[in-house]
Amino acid sequence: MPRFAERISRIQPSATVAISGKARQLASEGKDIVSFSMGEPDFDTPEHIRAGGAAAIEAGHTRYTAATGTPELKKAVLAASARRRGVEHQLDEVAVSVGAKHALFNLALCLYDAGDEVIIPAPHWVSYPAQVEFVGAVPVVIETTADEGFKVSPDALKGALTPKTKAVVLCSPSNPTGSAYTEDELKALAEVLRGHECWILVDEIYGELVYEGFDQKSLLTVAPDLKERLLIIDGVSKTYAMTGWRIGWTIGNADVIAAVNKLQGQSTTNPCAVAQAAARVALESPQDAIDEMRTAFEKRRDRIVEGLNAIEGIECRKPEGAFYAFPSVEGLLGKSDGDRKVSTDLDFCDYLLDSVGMAVVPGTAFGAPGHVRISYAASMEQIEEGLKRLADAAGRLS
Ligand SMILES: Cc1ncc(COP(=O)(O)O)c(C=O)c1O
Repeated sequence: MPRFAERISRIQPSATVAISGKARQLASEGKDIVSFSMGEPDFDTPEHIRAGGAAAIEAGHTRYTAATGTPELKKAVLAASARRRGVEHQLDEVAVSVGAKHALFNLALCLYDAGDEVIIPAPHWVSYPAQVEFVGAVPVVIETTADEGFKVSPDALKGALTPKTKAVVLCSPSNPTGSAYTEDELKALAEVLRGHECWILVDEIYGELVYEGFDQKSLLTVAPDLKERLLIIDGVSKTYAMTGWRIGWTIGNADVIAAVNKLQGQSTTNPCAVAQAAARVALESPQDAIDEMRTAFEKRRDRIVEGLNAIEGIECRKPEGAFYAFPSVEGLLGKSDGDRKVSTDLDFCDYLLDSVGMAVVPGTAFGAPGHVRISYAASMEQIEEGLKRLADAAGRLS
């Protein structure tokens, strides 16, 4: 067989996709599996948004659109962004892509050369370093701990910046930890970033999903002077339970957006026209559906964090947002269930799936060994069942 391109060997399959696939496979074989591995709301897309998609089909909005989205959707995106972030952008400062993951991938292709360094605080979403590596650039991972709230400090950021730093990627609230930066923390990071001419990628895909009234501010809001090199990545996937529709976007510098436009014009062309119409409905309709989901997520967060901390060997920080708990399982590592030894978080996840049919994602995939990510985008019944199974599996380890 002729050889593959070298670049495809630089990346590994997504761990979250892999474990969800394994859980689905076991379930399809008739095994009793509870899965907490997927990063998507368990809610259906709200009815009025589905209706918007159906209406778009009936109205014949089934043709190509402009490569980076219809003007109508772009206007809706920018109006929502200005409301949320208090900073205006023009139509040539937004590009709609096939989900936020695609938006980020486009930015990696447009902005990073081989050898460029991209700073990524860990625990980090699995795709950030993979996309950087794919284009031959170098991820520079800054580790953070639960004691630091899994948030990068200004000093650590300063220490990681070099003349080769091309970009810094920040995610708040975070996948996988649910941690969100406060306004003061963002201001302190902005002060460091002012001193270094690099791109600043701010992933706010979970920005609407914060709890107990947490005041989620955008870095753009607290540091509007950084606007020229600050790129916001966002989308409808998580906020509106629209993961399958594949609509995300980048807002920022018009030259970067023009580059994304050129790239999309030669690759995907436009994101699905029908999905764009539905996304516009999501943004322009009353936002009650989000409030309902947010309320449900908050109750689940409280229950799961309480339940996890009640299990010996597990410790979980209470996250401010998103729908993930990211507990340490260090207290269980090195133990055995009979002759099955559990040495790492990867072993622990395999052990959970095999022994009690529970799927969670190993922290190693997020640059944080010794932890697991549990998505609580699951019903309260599933959460109770999961906590029972986890306590059962943990209790068997000695
Ligand atoms: C932090 C983060 N950014 C981006 C994405 C991608 O979102 P989308 O489904 O819109 O591609 C995800 C999805 O899991 C995510 O967790």
